[in-house]
Amino acid sequence: MSETEQFGPYEIPGIGLGTLRRNDDEGVALVEAALAEGYRHVDTAEYYGNEVAVGKGIARSSVPREDIWLTTKILHPKAPRPPDVRTAAEASLRRLGVDYVDALLIHWPNDHAPLAESLEVFAALREEGLTRTIGVSNFPTALLDEAASLVDGLVTNQVEYHVYLDQSEVLDAVRGHGMVLTAHTPLARGEVLDDPVLAEIAAGRGMTIAQVALRWLVQQERVIAIPGGDPEHVDQLRDNLAVLELSLDDEEMAQISHLARTRRIVDGAHAPVWD
Ligand SMILES: NC(=O)c1ccc[n+]([C@@H]2O[C@H](COP(=O)([O-])OP(=O)(O)OC[C@H]3O[C@@H](n4cnc5c(N)ncnc54)[C@H](OP(=O)(O)O)[C@@H]3O)[C@@H](O)[C@H]2O)c1
Repeated sequence: MSETEQFGPYEIPGIGLGTLRRNDDEGVALVEAALAEGYRHVDTAEYYGNEVAVGKGIARSSVPREDIWLTTKILHPKAPRPPDVRTAAEASLRRLGVDYVDALLIHWPNDHAPLAESLEVFAALREEGLTRTIGVSNFPTALLDEAASLVDGLVTNQVEYHVYLDQSEVLDAVRGHGMVLTAHTPLARGEVLDDPVLAEIAAGRGMTIAQVALRWLVQQERVIAIPGGDPEHVDQLRDNLAVLELSLDDEEMAQISHLARTRRIVDGAHAPVWD
C-alpha cells in the first residue's frame, strides 16, 4: 500500500478529511487544522451545507490549492432539486471559492436526475476543467456498472465501508472498472472503537483502535478512507493520517475480515437496494 492511490495521472491521498456535520466556524477550523497537520484531501458535499466553510478553511491555510484533492458531491435526493445539474455544480464551485474541484460525485442515485443525463453533464464539466475527475457515491454494483457503461473514467464510488460492513461485491466491481473505493463512515461513527479484536491488535502494535480500523481499510488495494474529524481533537486527526505509515500483517488483516460484517449505518428511504 502506498500513501496514495493512482488514478490516471492523479495521486489521490489515501486518507482524506470527512467534514460532515462540521459547519460554519467549526468547519473552517477543522479544514485549516487538518491541512496544517498534513492532510491533502478534503471531502464535502452540497448537502452538508458547509462548502463555504470548507472553502474558507482552504483559503486560510498556507497549503496551495493545487496540492489539495478536493471532492464535492451534488444531487442528494433530499436536497432541493436544482434547476439543472450544471447549475448545481457551478454553485458548489462558487460556494467553495475555487475554479475547479478534483472530484465531482453524484451523491446518491437520484430518481429526479436521470443517470445518463447527469453523467453527460459531468463529463462536459470535466472536459471544461471545472472538475478534474467525476464519480459516484452510494452506488450498488448494478448501478455502478450502468454508470461505467455510460461514461469513461469514473474515478470513485464513495460508499460506506468499515470493519463491520462487507463491501466485497462493490469493491470487486470498483476494481474491475479501474476505479478507487472511497470508504465513508470508516469508523462506523465510533462503533468500532470498543471492539475487542481491534483492541487486542491495537495493543500488540502500539496503535489506537481507530488506527487499526482505518489501516485495515487503506491497506486494501484501491481503497482510500475519509474519517470525520473534530477541530477540538487534533490528536485524532494526526493519528488518523498517520495510518498511511503503519501496517498490519496478513493474519491481522484476516482476523478483522472475519468480524461480523452486516452493520450498515447510512441508510434510509432514499437509499437504493444494496448488494
Ligand atoms: N457519501 C455519503 O453519502 C456519505 C455519508 C456519510 C459520510 N460521508 C463522508 O464520510 C465522512 C466520515 O463519516 P462520519 O464522520 O459520519 O463517520 P466516521 O468517520 O465513521 O466517524 C467520525 C467520528 O469518529 C470519531 N473519531 C474520528 N477519529 C477518531 C480517533 N482517531 N479516535 C477516536 N474517535 C475518532 C469522531 O467522533 P467525535 O467527534 O465524537 O470524537 C468523529 O466525528 C464524513 O465526514 C463525510 O465526509 C459520506
